[in-house]
Order: sequence, then structure tokens, then C-alpha cells
Amino acid sequence: MSNKDWSAAQYLKFEDERTMPARDLLARVPLQAPKRIVDLGCGPGNSTAVLAARYPDSHIEGMDSSPDMIKNAKVALPHIEFSVEDLRSYSPSSSVDLFFSNAVFQWLKKEERISVIKGLMGTQPSGGVFAFQVPDNLMEPSHVLMREVAASGPWAVTLRTVGRDFFQSPQEIYDQLKPLSSEVNIFRTEYHHSLEDHKAIVEWVKGTGLRPYVDPLLPQDKEAFLNEYLKRLESAYPKLIDGRVLLGYPRLFVVAVKK
Ligand SMILES: C[S@@+](CC[C@H](N)C(=O)[O-])C[C@H]1O[C@@H](n2cnc3c(N)ncnc32)[C@H](O)[C@@H]1O
Repeated sequence: MSNKDWSAAQYLKFEDERTMPARDLLARVPLQAPKRIVDLGCGPGNSTAVLAARYPDSHIEGMDSSPDMIKNAKVALPHIEFSVEDLRSYSPSSSVDLFFSNAVFQWLKKEERISVIKGLMGTQPSGGVFAFQVPDNLMEPSHVLMREVAASGPWAVTLRTVGRDFFQSPQEIYDQLKPLSSEVNIFRTEYHHSLEDHKAIVEWVKGTGLRPYVDPLLPQDKEAFLNEYLKRLESAYPKLIDGRVLLGYPRLFVVAVKK
């Protein structure tokens, strides 16, 4: 995992596309008027703004481990309370009706994810909701090619342990969360984002999945890595009729209602 901070500016280059799953996840949350909501891994506040629009009367907080993300979130939504905290040690100060998390839990190690979710659900009242979404894209060309380039250049030794763990399967998630839940709803959506060109795919993943691969490299290796990656993307993603490219992006959604 990269130790460098996230860049809110890089992340927000594709704000509309990245916020779409937050809207789709929230649409499936069966709560009319939750008193207290926490956006876990709120990033620059884009997912928090979606929560605030649906629940203007709720008390909403956002937390994230990135100082740069939190700095941006505070500017974007000055009336909301944001804090720099790590999910793995976070505990809410009082009972939370809705834990919401868009595109965050994939960044935790596989063995940490479910225990963090269960720990937080354990603090929720009956009827509370834990809703999260994670990308399910490790087998997409965008990510397969990232791993291939990492394994085949002069940087192969430096990058040999880099890469995030596959997420738990829907069956594993269900089996783990059902004992705490009255219902566990799981769904998967594949988005097809039309991007300007192949360089835009690089820009997209530079804000997220590519960070652990390029952050440890020296500037000249970083440039060579990105050039080779771009070349492979150009072969893998055909151009559309208008010269754009379609980035396939499957995502997994989970909405669990506390027993
Ligand atoms: C892909 S962004 C998602 C941002 C926002 N929720 C959204 O809907 O676009 C992932 C966020 O997870 C945060 N993150 C990663 N690991 C974390 C951890 N252990 N604790 C808290 N936040 C974490 C990152 O700092 C980053 O802001």
C-alpha cells in the first residue's frame, strides 16, 4: 500500500463518475430519517454531499485517513464535521443510524475488512444500516495490465508485493454479516464510462488504483511505467465511433440492516 497521501485534485478529475455509485448505493438505503450518519472514507466530501442532499435534517459526519481529502471536504461542506481518522481504529462517539462508505473498504487488507464492518455494526441500534460499495474491477484490463506492467519492467522487484487483495465474494459477505442483520442486500452494477481517450484511463487510475504502483518509483521509472501501461491500454480498449473509449467498471454494493 502506498504511504503517500491521496490527491483530492487528481481524484476529483472524474467526480461525476466516481459519485454515481454513491447515489446508487444511497437509493437502496431503507431509512427515512436517520438521526446520525457517518460517511466512512468520505474522500473530498463528494459522497457526503450526496448524503446531505437526501438527509438535510440528519447530523452527518465524515472521516477519512487522508489529510488532503479532509482539507478539501471541509472547504466543500463547511457546515459538516470532518475528521482525519483511520477506519481500523475508528469508533463512533455515539450511536450511528447509517454508516455509509463509497469505494473505501477495498483499501483495507482482506482480513481487516469484515472485522472492521462487524465492529462498527456492533455499535449500531437495531434497524441501523451499514451500506458500502467497492469496485469489483481487479479482472478488468485496466487492472490486469497494471499488474502485468508491474511484473515485467526493471521495477518488478520494487513492486513485487504491491497490489490490493481481491474483495470477499458476495457469499462470504452474506455469511459474515447475516448473523448481525435482519437483511443483507447485495447487488453488482457494471458501469461503462465513456472517457475522452486512453490517457484519460491513466488519469482515472492515477487517482486510485495506480497509486501504489507508481508512488514508490523514481521519476524516470514512473514515466516509463506509465508509457508502457498506456501502450497496453491502447491495444486493450478499442476506440468508439467518436474516438472515445469505454472504461468498464463493475462494482459490488452491500446494504445490511442491523438486527
Ligand atoms: C476512492 S476514495 C472514496 C472517496 C469518497 N467516499 C467517494 O465516494 O468518492 C477512497 C478513500 O478512502 C480513504 N481511505 C483509504 N483507507 C482508509 C482507512 N484505512 N481509513 C480511512 N479512510 C481510508 C482514502 O483516503 C480515500 O479518500
